[in-house]
Amino acid sequence: IKAIAVMTSGGDSPGMNPAVRAITRSALNQGLRVFGINRGYSGLIIGDIFELKSTHVTNIIQRGGTILKSDRCPAFKDPVVRNQAAEILKKHEIDGLIVIGGDGSLTGAHYFTQETGIPVIGLPGTIDNDIYGTDDSIGFDTVLNTALDAIDRIRDTAVSHERIFLVEVMGRNSGHIASQVGIASGAEMIIVPEVDFKLETLCFSLASHRAQSKGGSGIIVVAEGPAPGLTYRLAKQLESHGEKPGVSILGYIQRGGRPTGHDRVLASCLGASAVTYLMAGFTDIMVGVINSQITTTPLQDIVEKKKPLNPDLVELAQLLHK
Ligand code: F6P
Repeated sequence: IKAIAVMTSGGDSPGMNPAVRAITRSALNQGLRVFGINRGYSGLIIGDIFELKSTHVTNIIQRGGTILKSDRCPAFKDPVVRNQAAEILKKHEIDGLIVIGGDGSLTGAHYFTQETGIPVIGLPGTIDNDIYGTDDSIGFDTVLNTALDAIDRIRDTAVSHERIFLVEVMGRNSGHIASQVGIASGAEMIIVPEVDFKLETLCFSLASHRAQSKGGSGIIVVAEGPAPGLTYRLAKQLESHGEKPGVSILGYIQRGGRPTGHDRVLASCLGASAVTYLMAGFTDIMVGVINSQITTTPLQDIVEKKKPLNPDLVELAQLLHK
């Protein structure tokens, strides 16, 4: 391998920049040429590629977002388009690719390397932390802290006005963000797609919360889930049970911002390891972390397997309120 390329793909996540920096500098230190692909697969298929020098990644370790820009690219689901993309990489004499992104991006990476034979390594770059084969994804720690900061502020108002607040966090179809933010913020309840929930249970726990003289305030963390508008619907239902809940949808504030120290270290380690694996001849794998050890998982598993949520976390939040 003489030249590699790197791209960021899908929803941006804090820590993508430290990963790009680590990949660029590790590869340059080992005598490789490095290319950056702008806007993920969308940039690849139109040949939006430039050579990365060490100075391109100077002073980016602390910056949120991604200097390479990002995009979701439905066109890349077409094998003909993937084949054209391979030709573009060959034209630039690029013989290995590192994709930093979520499950959709890593699925694209799997099909791309299978069909074209171009070596590809994936890195888990998503705030959602829903990728099989890694305990932690780049950006997850930052989103936890960002959401937590917002919820701590909302709690001030909740306590002062003795009100219940429903706070919606991101996570697409999974409750990994919600369950951890819920524990860390001391939420009275956590609602996630993976665990069945009944409105009656929620009303009952709010009533017993009050009966125990804990005041009329509370935070309910809701994962956005696959059905848009859930949080507002829940608020309406609670209103019909005599509650006057406030609603706060945290939205895109969660995706931006400076990566935490944890995400910078994670991204740096995974980025450097991805280069090592590519140079050692590996392909079609994701480099992740399990039990604090760097690990590799076949991209095929990422395509086929769903990362389970630890339901104990959701129960724990309720237990800690008794
Ligand atoms: O995957 C990251 C994420 O922020 C999800 O939590 C969210 O559901 C989704 O992206 C939103 O995507 P988009 O910005 O493309 O609407």
